[in-house]
Amino acid sequence: MVRFFGILIGLFFAGMLVYSFGRGAVDYVSNPPVKAVEYQFHEEPKDVSFKSDGPFGKFDNQQLQRGFQVYKEVCAACHSIRLVAFRNLTDLGYNEDEVKAIAANWPIETPDIDPATGEASTRPSIPADKFPKPFANDVAAAAANNNAIPPDLSLMTKAREGGAPYIYSLLTGYTDPPANLPEANRPGPGLHYNPYFANLNLAMAPPITGDDQVTYSDGTKATVSQMAQDVTAFLIWTAEPSLIKQKQTGWAVIAFLILATILGFLAYKSVWADLKAQKKQKDA
Ligand code: HEC
Repeated sequence: MVRFFGILIGLFFAGMLVYSFGRGAVDYVSNPPVKAVEYQFHEEPKDVSFKSDGPFGKFDNQQLQRGFQVYKEVCAACHSIRLVAFRNLTDLGYNEDEVKAIAANWPIETPDIDPATGEASTRPSIPADKFPKPFANDVAAAAANNNAIPPDLSLMTKAREGGAPYIYSLLTGYTDPPANLPEANRPGPGLHYNPYFANLNLAMAPPITGDDQVTYSDGTKATVSQMAQDVTAFLIWTAEPSLIKQKQTGWAVIAFLILATILGFLAYKSVWADLKAQKKQKDA
């Protein structure tokens, strides 16, 4: 009896399962899912590589210095890199005096408190200071940028899907909206069309607008693509300053493991050599 009910209940659930799958399938065919407009027009990051890519990748200090220059002259007016201190710039090959000068002459001063009055004030930065933020707070940042807050860039190459190639593509990817873009997805006031940005329109005006926007001291031609690559390389460094050290440590560890394996094998050979010889004699 119990078994009979058991089978009945089992059949009931199996029936429900088949029915709901069937309904789903019919629905799918009669009413196929529509792809969001954002999805149709969105583009995957461009195929671009960086010197720090791959197991043998290395930072190119010349490029990082150029990227820092682009950050300083173009992006720093809106974006902070709050996790980086001036003294970290010695990684890029600047010496201590140069770092001191960069900190002291940085266009935005470091917030401080006036020792005499206790009022908020600012002072020139020293190497130990983090890079000061361009806006006092998020409200000020949003007010100056069409209600969008320029995000901190220190970890940006790790924060976005697509990583560094995405940042490069975003910087070089502004275009006119395609003719067949629906009205609802066209950039509203203060927005700019960019198919690499997830929802196609963003509040950042194209920051890198034309060749020679900065003047590189190492003679590199400052094309739009070059500046975008350089600043992206700089942002790879801000997100992971010890990237190359980690790779080198990785190789050292692998070399050590190989050596340890060889030594282990040789030790095994020599420990068992006598016993094997004895066994051979016995067998013979
Ligand atoms: C005039 C101010 C301004 C300048 C200059 C500027 N940005 Fe932006 N940026 C913004 C704003 C505002 C946003 C937020 C856009 C949004 O969410 O719609 C933004 C967003 C971004 C994002 C995030 C995109 C995302 O996926 O959310 C990146 C990356 C970025 N900017 C990089 C840069 C770089 C690199 C430079 C310098 C070459 C730069 N920006 C210069 C204002 C600026």
